[in-house]
Amino acid sequence: MRIVNVVGARPNFMKMAPLLREMRRHPDIVTTLVHTGQHYDDAMAGQIFRDLELPAPDISLEVGSGSHAYQTAEVMKRLEGVLKDIQPHLVVVVGDVNSTLAAAVTAVKMGIAVAHIEAGLRSFDRAMPEEINRLLTDAIADYLFVTEESGRENLLREGVDRGKIHMVGNVMIDSLEQSRSVWERSDLVARLGLSRGGYGVVTLHRPSNVDDPATLRGLVKALSEVGRRIPLVFPVHPRTRGRLEAMEAESVIGSGARYIPPLGYLDFIALVAGSSLVLTDSGGLQEETTALGVPCLTLREQTERPITVTHGTNRIVGTSPDRIVEEATRALTEQQPGGTRPPLWDGHAAERIVAIIREAGGHRVVARG
Ligand code: UD1
Repeated sequence: MRIVNVVGARPNFMKMAPLLREMRRHPDIVTTLVHTGQHYDDAMAGQIFRDLELPAPDISLEVGSGSHAYQTAEVMKRLEGVLKDIQPHLVVVVGDVNSTLAAAVTAVKMGIAVAHIEAGLRSFDRAMPEEINRLLTDAIADYLFVTEESGRENLLREGVDRGKIHMVGNVMIDSLEQSRSVWERSDLVARLGLSRGGYGVVTLHRPSNVDDPATLRGLVKALSEVGRRIPLVFPVHPRTRGRLEAMEAESVIGSGARYIPPLGYLDFIALVAGSSLVLTDSGGLQEETTALGVPCLTLREQTERPITVTHGTNRIVGTSPDRIVEEATRALTEQQPGGTRPPLWDGHAAERIVAIIREAGGHRVVARG
């Protein structure tokens, strides 16, 4: 079976690594790894590939940055020829970035089956570009691999054929567990002069949080307030760095928060695992903190990953600066429940996915009604 695996942006890489590793254990599968180049910096792509032991891409589309229409269209144009040459039985896409949607649309229109890993998640906020990517990808994919029960429920509500939906667990947690012995040896926390349990971690990159200067200013103010209680480390995403520089945020950044460049995967997980609190607007980090038992405050109005709240350590606190400070203070002063691991977040999701794909032979699944 020929399978083309597509990645584009940083959060795709930790989902693809365990899948590719598992596929390559089976001689009946021939894999091709395509990197669209949506993320291209060494910090956003190269270092993460090395940390995850992802092989160099077989094909790089080198699409780069641009508007949503530009990125999506360029991936489609450049991928079409690749799929024509390889004639795969299946295209595998992960997550919810523009490359995910672009690859799915291209493949399906060529009559090629598509598997979507991390299907069914819904924030119910169509102002989020990722929500549009999720809805459209799930509407056309043949294999929908879900990480949590809400994913199955959402897909069924949208009229998706039950036979396409497979609850398999979470490949991101596969990556976390497979690399555990390596990230546990990271000395980053000591190099930053911090001690385990004595600091917090911040990440922010959602357009709704960082693109509007008033919102970003409020968030930075809240962080400097929280930073008075506990040292904060903030590995800054390039989108956010650009916005902070544009508004000369140095003037509002308190001494408590340390703004550092993006980290590699292993150092980042080590940093999070050693922290006592995470403040974030990332989707993946809500899941990783749940798996690590670290309290997480999500600086958004909703989550597409409700299981991290019902089972895990996540709390949705919104973006009001006062509320953030209040919730962070509570999280730091009151005993926090450690949460439980959601079902099937056990480090073996990729094995389940590849078993299903091999058994089905990569056939298109025709809706029954
Ligand atoms: C993208 C995804 C988002 C994901 C995030 C993780 C979409 C719609 N968004 O958002 O879902 O959570 O990745 O990081 O697909 N840049 C660099 N170097 C890079 C890549 C980007 O400097 O390697 C800068 C560019 O100035 C670019 C900006 O970051 O314009 C934003 O990058 P882009 O890929 O458009 O979106 P993200 O915000 O990264």
